Amino acid sequence: MSDSAAAPAVLQALDLHKTYFMGGAELRVLRGASMELRAGEVAALRGASGSGKSTLLHLLGLLDRLDEGEVAFNGRPTRRLSQSARARLRASTIGFVFQQFQLLPELSALENVLVPRRLACGMSWFRRRGLERANARALLGTVGLSDRLGHRPGQLSGGEQQRVAIARALISRPAALLADEPTGSLDRKAGAEVLELLLELAQENHTAVLLTTHDPEIAARCSRVLHLEEGRVRQE
Ligand SMILES: Nc1ncnc2c1ncn2[C@@H]1O[C@H](COP(=O)(O)OP(=O)(O)O)[C@@H](O)[C@H]1O
Ligand SMILES: [Mg+2]
Repeated sequence: MSDSAAAPAVLQALDLHKTYFMGGAELRVLRGASMELRAGEVAALRGASGSGKSTLLHLLGLLDRLDEGEVAFNGRPTRRLSQSARARLRASTIGFVFQQFQLLPELSALENVLVPRRLACGMSWFRRRGLERANARALLGTVGLSDRLGHRPGQLSGGEQQRVAIARALISRPAALLADEPTGSLDRKAGAEVLELLLELAQENHTAVLLTTHDPEIAARCSRVLHLEEGRVRQE
């Protein structure tokens, strides 16, 4: 997109380091990974299996702790924030789509999408629930699931479950959407549909999207391609 270069960076990662320790062995997964993501752009993060794509995405999503480096949202550093401040920032700013959907099996599609809103609303949920339900229904309509509101995850196809997971990640209108192989467990057609949907939603809402993928065709449809190699991010 022509205007994306002028847009402010929603997400900045600077010199990220992450090492795992397993049975005395040291696995240095991230070794100075840096990148930024601007409003309205959909960037693909490619890299071999085991290169650290999920590790990086979890750090960017404030789901795990860095060893070194800094992650900032809209110019605001996060490293020194308390656990609760990180949780608030995550709820207000970041949508996360997990590879295996991670929908709650006992809840309907509509109730799954409402989970983050229930958490965010706290005591005001009972006053707000009519409005929140209407928003969730509208969003499920946008992702093409108007006639699946009452279905549980087990009653939905993989592509439909992924679309519920995307709706759940977007219901709080996050500035950044992080999606870990959102098309990875879908067949080609469902994968292409999910990608088109992400591209459309990002453009409409000016959301910054970072998705990990193995698939060169998916990466080619994105506005920018990043490669994770030897613990660092290289721009194509
Ligand atoms: N919690 C963990 N503890 C130890 N090693 C881990 C942990 N999570 C991931 N790893 C290892 O770190 C490497 C990178 O993993 P991951 O980020 O999942 O890669 P990718 O998503 O690119 O396939 C892999 O070798 C993996 O086995
Ligand atoms: Mg992964």
